Amino acid sequence: MVKLICYNICGSDIMQLNKIKLVNFRNYKNLDLSFEKNINIFIGDNAQGKTNLLESIYVMAISKSHRMFIDNNLIKKDELYTKIKGTLLSNNRTTDLELLINIKGKSVKINNKIIKKTSDYISKCTVIIFTPDDLEIVKGSPGIRRKFLNIEIGQLNNKYLNVLNDYNFLVKTKNDYLKKITKETLDINYLDILNEQLINKAIIIYKYRNEFMEKVSENAKKIYKDLTNENNLLIKYNPNIEFDYFDQEQISNSMKEKFKKNVQREVLQGMSLYGPHRDDFKFFIKNNEIKEYGSQGQHRLAVLCLKLGEIEMFKESKNEYPILLLDDIFSELDENKKNNIIKYIKNDIQTFITTTDLNNINKNLLKNADIFKIKEGNLIKKEKNN
Ligand SMILES: Nc1ncnc2c1ncn2[C@@H]1O[C@H](COP(=O)(O)OP(=O)(O)OP(=O)(O)O)[C@@H](O)[C@H]1O
Ligand SMILES: [Mg+2]
Repeated sequence: MVKLICYNICGSDIMQLNKIKLVNFRNYKNLDLSFEKNINIFIGDNAQGKTNLLESIYVMAISKSHRMFIDNNLIKKDELYTKIKGTLLSNNRTTDLELLINIKGKSVKINNKIIKKTSDYISKCTVIIFTPDDLEIVKGSPGIRRKFLNIEIGQLNNKYLNVLNDYNFLVKTKNDYLKKITKETLDINYLDILNEQLINKAIIIYKYRNEFMEKVSENAKKIYKDLTNENNLLIKYNPNIEFDYFDQEQISNSMKEKFKKNVQREVLQGMSLYGPHRDDFKFFIKNNEIKEYGSQGQHRLAVLCLKLGEIEMFKESKNEYPILLLDDIFSELDENKKNNIIKYIKNDIQTFITTTDLNNINKNLLKNADIFKIKEGNLIKKEKNN
């Protein structure tokens, strides 16, 4: 009842990107686009700019790409800067977001005001992206999974990224110190102080990550069952400091013990060896790790369930559905799964979909969609029945 009343007074419970403007972004020289519908489909041949356009929305929201770590590739070749501007409708208010990247670095603005802390920026516009590269979340190195965790939790809680920054700074300080000293010159009191500070930050990170992983695995498991009729997808968080359930004191004690026992090892290796910067998570189907035993389809499905599992979590946490970016996800799924997945991609979530072939898109989605044709970095809105 309360929710119904709020819905009527507050209006929409989704986040909507109304406009986007690109300058020198990858193969786009200048692009001005307005979106009127929730479902927006970008169709085009290979290498025309479909992924780039979804990436631009992602980069505007997150302030970095999902594709790689280097921002300079985002600037159109032979240009000196790129700018992405978006107008977002969220909580019944419009907000202007802006990201500028040039040789000196990047800066972000909200409503024309420079924002110093990225953490304050990336929680404004929440997005969930599905791309073929996501297979790396299952197959790739633990660093890829940690990057995923950090971005997703960071979108939900701006405090998380601040704590993570502090933690990373402490790890770097400790590593620099460990590299500099030897067994003989070690000041154990200084190391203890650093470790104490590290542990305090680590506990907060563990709390956020544990909560996120618990919820997302539960949701993903349900979705997997719904899509396949089998009840056996497990996404298991592997914190580097092992714990079965979150208990601040227990984690603190385990970390202290690890550090105490391994002083010589850390000095020898010149780095801090324990804590959240070494976390991971794993995917299992029927108790077999997908990375080792899974088929291509199982890899794809597992990561899709992970991402679909996030949708309701985002809604619960932010009171609004996030924006969905679906990069060519339908082409390799069987008909049954394609149709089932549509249930989760509701018409009332703003969704941007790319495809090379409209036949891959469910008819119900097409009915409610605006379709844009992309050719060499230019867009034309297609009139229906055209
Ligand atoms: N920094 C850049 N400057 C100019 N062009 C770029 C830049 N980065 C990528 N491109 C080009 O943009 C073009 C479109 O790439 P994009 O990945 O968006 O294609 P796509 O439409 O998604 O194709 P596919 O269907 O094969 O996935 C490619 O030719 C790519 O080489
Ligand atoms: Mg592409």
